[in-house]
Amino acid sequence: MLPLSGLTDEQLHQAADRFGTPLYVYSAAELDAALGRVQQAFSGTRIWYAMKANPNLTLLRRMRAAGVGFECVSAGELARAEHIGADAEGILINGPAKSDAEYAAGARLGATFILDRPEEVALLPAHARVLIRVNPGLPVSTHDHLATGAADSKFGVRPDELPATLSALRDAGHTLQGLHLHIGSAIRDAADFGAAFERVAALRAMTGPLEVLDVGGGWGLDADLHGIAAQAQAAAAVFGAALWVEPGRYLVARAGVLLTRVMGHKTTGRAFTLLDAGMTELLRPMLYGAEHPVRALWQGEQQQVSDLAGPACESGDLLGRDVPLPAGATRGDLLALLDAGAYGAAMSSNYLTRPRPAEALWDGQEWQVIRRRETVQEVWAAEE
Ligand SMILES: Cc1ncc(COP(=O)(O)O)c(C=O)c1O
Repeated sequence: MLPLSGLTDEQLHQAADRFGTPLYVYSAAELDAALGRVQQAFSGTRIWYAMKANPNLTLLRRMRAAGVGFECVSAGELARAEHIGADAEGILINGPAKSDAEYAAGARLGATFILDRPEEVALLPAHARVLIRVNPGLPVSTHDHLATGAADSKFGVRPDELPATLSALRDAGHTLQGLHLHIGSAIRDAADFGAAFERVAALRAMTGPLEVLDVGGGWGLDADLHGIAAQAQAAAAVFGAALWVEPGRYLVARAGVLLTRVMGHKTTGRAFTLLDAGMTELLRPMLYGAEHPVRALWQGEQQQVSDLAGPACESGDLLGRDVPLPAGATRGDLLALLDAGAYGAAMSSNYLTRPRPAEALWDGQEWQVIRRRETVQEVWAAEE
């Protein structure tokens, strides 16, 4: 059988036995391979990791060592960047509703600010370095909750607001470094990128030449990175700008697997395989209708179709629908949900006083626990 994300079935069994389930495991080899693919396709481009995809400190330290900067969207993410030693040149601060604390932290760290609405000009710290996020106002081929470049999304400055925003920035003594764009996540049709890049390139008449064009992330896991890179470079060239990118999911999704054990079976109007992981460990299926490939780590000749149900008292707590699995699973058998390294652990929650899962990294030689399992006492600690 093929290894998963550079991990063999034996290694996965070993991790589940040692660290318990639910458990996130990551392959260092796959992390390196994903970054290598990006570096190759976008050669000479500044890479910023969208930390929201997976903010684990060990993963961040690996990225930093490889020269990657961080796109942060909260005071907590800025604190993580600072904690691992990222410097002013390595931090972007973004977000549609930054708090006073976030402006102050960004200023203290010397971060570059991504301006999301004209009103923010008056909120920026003095002499800020700024990218203006533009909303291209185009349909985007992804789940509605993941589309950020559509005209009705809450993100970015409208092109018609750009001239006034540019002069307000100048009058306030800030430095315009460039434009920013991020049209959404898990985008299915790569043509959406080209359309958005062209729309932004057309703004050259308003902005003049720029230092930077940041085209965000959002690439599908099977995306043609070379094709996207060529289109992005062409748009950057219109401004005479250096190209920046902000991938999140692409860098970490394939490297991560959520390991969960079968708790039993049930048939009502539908057939269910009951698991010890659910929406509290992996929210994406419930939040975005995301479909994660599944791999059963038990043997069985015949396939049976069932829904994968988590332990929460929520009907929507399903990790998959109509999933074919080998028949005959018994309690304790191991199931792997693949491509779970992005927005998996990052979105896990303590709902139902469930401690968030442990995370472990296979470095090619051995397992390293990179986040220990929370305890129940830690979940309620802030209430005592
Ligand atoms: C501004 C910005 N940049 C980059 C990303 C990364 O997107 P993805 O993980 O799909 O590459 C996001 C994610 O939503 C984002 O909001």
